[in-house]
Amino acid sequence: MKIEPIARLDGHIAVPGDKSISHRALLIGALCETDVLVRQWGRSGDTESTLAAMRALGVEVDERDVDTLVVHGAGVRGLRPADGPVDCGNAGTLARLLTGVLAFQEGRFELVGDESLSQRPMDRVAEPLRRMGAEIETTEGRLPMRIEGEQLRGIEYALPVASAQVKSAVLLAGLGASGKTTVVEPAPTRDHTELMLEAAGARVRRKGPSISIESAEHLRLEEVLVPGDISSAAPFLVAAALLPGSSLTVHDVGLNPRRAGVLEVLERMGVRVGVTNRRRVAGELVGDVEVIGTHELVATRVNAHEVPTLVDELPLVALLGAFAHGETVVSGAAELRAKESDRVESVTAALRAIGVRIEPRPDGFTVRGTPARPRGGTVDAVGDHRIAMLGAVAGAVSREGVRLEDADSVGVSFPGFFELLDSLAQ
Ligand code: S3P
Repeated sequence: MKIEPIARLDGHIAVPGDKSISHRALLIGALCETDVLVRQWGRSGDTESTLAAMRALGVEVDERDVDTLVVHGAGVRGLRPADGPVDCGNAGTLARLLTGVLAFQEGRFELVGDESLSQRPMDRVAEPLRRMGAEIETTEGRLPMRIEGEQLRGIEYALPVASAQVKSAVLLAGLGASGKTTVVEPAPTRDHTELMLEAAGARVRRKGPSISIESAEHLRLEEVLVPGDISSAAPFLVAAALLPGSSLTVHDVGLNPRRAGVLEVLERMGVRVGVTNRRRVAGELVGDVEVIGTHELVATRVNAHEVPTLVDELPLVALLGAFAHGETVVSGAAELRAKESDRVESVTAALRAIGVRIEPRPDGFTVRGTPARPRGGTVDAVGDHRIAMLGAVAGAVSREGVRLEDADSVGVSFPGFFELLDSLAQ
């Protein structure tokens, strides 16, 4: 696919429902004893994997509309063994969170995934869950993974990596464990699981970096209204920021402070960001975000403490750095190497291919910026949706455009991405 340079981005848009919350609406909805209406569900390759997995495990889900579901909750211990392996596709969130849920269901389960997911670490969830008494067998720390449901016991677990997926897996397992389960996180990670479990009536306590949950017999949710995905809004906000004369508003987007770190980075780099219509929907902060394009970006540093608040937006931060005066450094982000691709390497390759000066680090990257548009070139998304969107934005803000290989991978999180970009280009 060829992405042509554009002059500016103008207008008002909305983006599909948050992917993290859409997975959780299905996983937690399935454990409720109520019918759960899910509105503005973000339909994508990843969330469809979760939909199919829940059905394979005996949960009935009606699709009222493309983005409206009714999950007929099966109860906290209500999942049933599937006929064969449960396919998690490309979705790390599904594989990790579902492992926590299955650890206390009755029966045997097998999880598999696509080539990329099969290379990603699963021992990070297997290890704490085994301490709780779970029977889990991985394939050298990866998928395929076999799980046999057991009676679990609560533990206190200090997360060795700041990962919301691992935290969520342990907290979900805590629903079916005797006593109290506590997770201590090294840095604040997204808390969508805690917020949704609280809304469903689970006893969740938070104190500083520690989160505890008691076992639960009954969960009840009437409705989940999913906010727009800040990670899907980010490519558009960044493109607008980099194109002087742009003014772009994304409406009804999730602004959970543990997710919206990209907005702070934009502001720090000198971009005008306005947030209006701020409100709380089912515990999640939501609002409208406006970004004004600028000529004058300044370099910034992103460190380990901030990384979890924008971990999926770090590829875009590298592109912002390419336009900024000075050296932009992302450190404490070794986790990037364990994503859908090794994103230290894939971001470096993508940006070098268009003429940006970027150096990889073991735990991030350093970008030397200049206010001129980069040349452009050929970017390979290497099957990673976030790299495909990075390549597209890079093309839009380049001088000569980008030829994007493997552009289809955007479908993992945002199937309508290119149509929306097209509709906005001036
Ligand atoms: C997610 C957590 C993050 C993020 C992923 C979604 C979640 O992963 O990168 O896209 O929904 O909990 P880690 O928990 O591995 O950091």
